[in-house]
Amino acid sequence: MARKFIVAGNWKMHTTIDEGIQLATQIQEGQRNANTTVILGVPFTHLFPVKKKLKAASKIHLAAQNCHYKNSGAFTGEVSPATLAALKIPYVILGHSERRLFNHEDDALLALKIQAALENGLKVIFCCGEPLEIRKAGDHVKFVQKQLEASLFAVPATDMKNIIIAYEPIWAIGTGETASPNQAQEIHLAIRNMLKKQYGKRIADNTSILYGGSVKSSNAKEIFGQPDVDGGLVGGAALDSQEFLKIINSQ
Ligand code: PGA
Repeated sequence: MARKFIVAGNWKMHTTIDEGIQLATQIQEGQRNANTTVILGVPFTHLFPVKKKLKAASKIHLAAQNCHYKNSGAFTGEVSPATLAALKIPYVILGHSERRLFNHEDDALLALKIQAALENGLKVIFCCGEPLEIRKAGDHVKFVQKQLEASLFAVPATDMKNIIIAYEPIWAIGTGETASPNQAQEIHLAIRNMLKKQYGKRIADNTSILYGGSVKSSNAKEIFGQPDVDGGLVGGAALDSQEFLKIINSQ
């Protein structure tokens, strides 16, 4: 099984529901490379109305941007992975650096969230990536390895088919600055080798590792052309349907 090429949009806290429906509809109607798995990470409020507008044949999948680690309980304002599963939302993004920073999510909490999501049959897009000072010190590989060891590597091998990794250097998110294709390839290969050590070659070869951080149509082709980059997690550029379609077609 060759690993999937995936372009996922992360809409963050952008768009009203009407705007979101319009954006998803434009992406649905656009010309799309059939080999690209397309995922839209929309706000919680948008999941149901956007899902209703997407035709099964469009093969556009939805992702939540977070979920709780419990299925129910007294957790005001939280969203349960069981609720997402009941809504037939296939994916959830976990460990995004904005949630680690603004919502104080640490590796131990993320390990619980990953487990809960998988137990509910959700596929997880797990984000990792280093801040600028770590990159400048040359410690990025070690930093990412720690993130994976402390949360992702609790996942049993049998569940790894439901994991997508998104490497997102924090210094490249929303800054207009991207990792160079060489920088992306270096760390993606390092991540794949970590997977190989933990789970063996077959799982390492079959796990999609996406790059995120200021991906645009002007740089997507070069980054996606690297042998260990299997697509992208796209923030700002995912909010413009034409731009996002160009990225989808950048393989
Ligand atoms: P960006 O965001 O493309 O706007 O840098 C990426 C992300 O946060 O996933």
